[in-house]
Amino acid sequence: MSDPSPAPIRLSLLAEEASGCTRCALAEGRKQVVFGDGSPTADLMFVGEGPGAQEDEQGLPFVGRSGRLLDRLLQEEVGIDRSACYITNVVKCRPPGNRDPKPDEIVACRPYLSEQLALVDPAVIVTLGNFASKLLLDTETGITKLRGRSYGYAGRSLVPTFHPAAALRGGADVLAKLRSDLVRAKLLMSR
Ligand code: URA
Repeated sequence: MSDPSPAPIRLSLLAEEASGCTRCALAEGRKQVVFGDGSPTADLMFVGEGPGAQEDEQGLPFVGRSGRLLDRLLQEEVGIDRSACYITNVVKCRPPGNRDPKPDEIVACRPYLSEQLALVDPAVIVTLGNFASKLLLDTETGITKLRGRSYGYAGRSLVPTFHPAAALRGGADVLAKLRSDLVRAKLLMSR
């Protein structure tokens, strides 16, 4: 029989279980598992790529430069604080030297993300960058082509957009598109 506890409790039990995870080699180099942060009943969920150095240090997703940009865009375009969303990553442990996560690491971590999606049960998912967008949309198409519209995803809406790190590198055009994708997410939330 499935666990009858309320979803927020099951989410914290899952986080506790994940804190000792050794399903892939990323366990060897991490300081801590960065499971997720925010409201366990959020209508809006963000999925990034994987923790960086500051996230690994603090145990929280998107707390470095990319996270500060995300926080600002959330306020300016969606009108909410990060605490009203749920934020996680495709892989929960920092890839050494911030390299890309490997396919086997993504596969090993995938059940956590699937459970997080089921338990938080957001109306809208925003995937940040190539890794999260390709994984959840099950495609090889890159983010530049994927973004600009929303997709149905298990009864929810999914809005793929650029990773905030790309906006930090890529300048005004990428930033403007990231902003407009967040406005799209906001409109879908209020439906
Ligand atoms: N980049 C990500 O994809 N996730 C984080 O948590 C931080 C930076």
